[in-house]
Amino acid sequence: MAGRMEGKVAFITGAARGQGRSHALRLAQEGADIIAVDICADIDTVTPYYPLATEDELAETVRQVEALDRRIVARKADVRDLAGLQSAFDEGLAQLGQVDTVVANAGIATYGKAWELSGEQWKDMIDVNLTGVFHTAKVAIPAMIEADRGGSIMFTSSIGGLKGIQHVAHYVSAKHGIVGLMRTLANELGPHRIRVNTIHPTNVDTIMIQNPGTYAMFSPGDPEPSQEKAMPGFMSLNTLPVPWIESTDISNAVLWLASDEARYVTGVTLPVDAGAYVK
Ligand SMILES: NC(=O)c1ccc[n+]([C@@H]2O[C@H](COP(=O)([O-])OP(=O)(O)OC[C@H]3O[C@@H](n4cnc5c(N)ncnc54)[C@H](O)[C@@H]3O)[C@@H](O)[C@H]2O)c1
Repeated sequence: MAGRMEGKVAFITGAARGQGRSHALRLAQEGADIIAVDICADIDTVTPYYPLATEDELAETVRQVEALDRRIVARKADVRDLAGLQSAFDEGLAQLGQVDTVVANAGIATYGKAWELSGEQWKDMIDVNLTGVFHTAKVAIPAMIEADRGGSIMFTSSIGGLKGIQHVAHYVSAKHGIVGLMRTLANELGPHRIRVNTIHPTNVDTIMIQNPGTYAMFSPGDPEPSQEKAMPGFMSLNTLPVPWIESTDISNAVLWLASDEARYVTGVTLPVDAGAYVK
């Protein structure tokens, strides 16, 4: 049986690990070839909380996609750098011949009460999680329009793109911002049969939440935060009785939105959130 992504190419940012790698593998399992980018370097304001991905991790994504007999073009690129991102995308396009799916997944998390966030924390967050998503769409859209094959663009937002969450005002602002970008692009690109949607995960089991910064957010004032102490906080976000969901749960939504099964789904904010939004 033909895979649901047979003959398609997906451009994925933040693909070295976590959800981005999972998306690359899930789409490749269904027949897609992949253009993958990741910063493979740290950002100063994130370093106190957790490291960003490495070149070795991006190489591991390449190895795992190739093990599925799919092609992958992987490049080190920072979504904040429009020219660098464009040339990484263009190389992938030249080698793989087309792009049908865009997954703007790269993102960072840092923490602090809104009025205590530093200017640098605010700027880095908006640059990566909002402007980086704009750049990702911007570098891919002209080729998609030119090819006239339609397509699916999705932005990884968050439950924090639908409601306010304490200690991450900058993250919440960026994740709401990409909803506005999505809604506008859905209108602009509809005539070209290019669909644009956002995905809104609750906690996902990656290093972005499995770090002392997030643990501290869920046990404020505790001098020794831990996963165990944070567990009631993680659980309290969701209506279903789980602290977090898995990257594959998001990848399955990505696959559906990328596939022709969702051919009339555009302009949608899709929660994959264990009921966090209704809570
Ligand atoms: N983990 C969660 O609980 C959760 C919940 C909701 C939404 N999200 C969102 O999901 C997306 C994926 O996060 P994850 O959970 O896989 O965490 P992660 O940290 O494992 O993955 C993020 C990836 O993005 C890369 N990246 C960061 N800044 C970049 C930049 N400037 N340019 C290029 N690549 C960059 C990182 O190196 C990393 O590989 C993010 O947008 C995040 O905000 C995560």
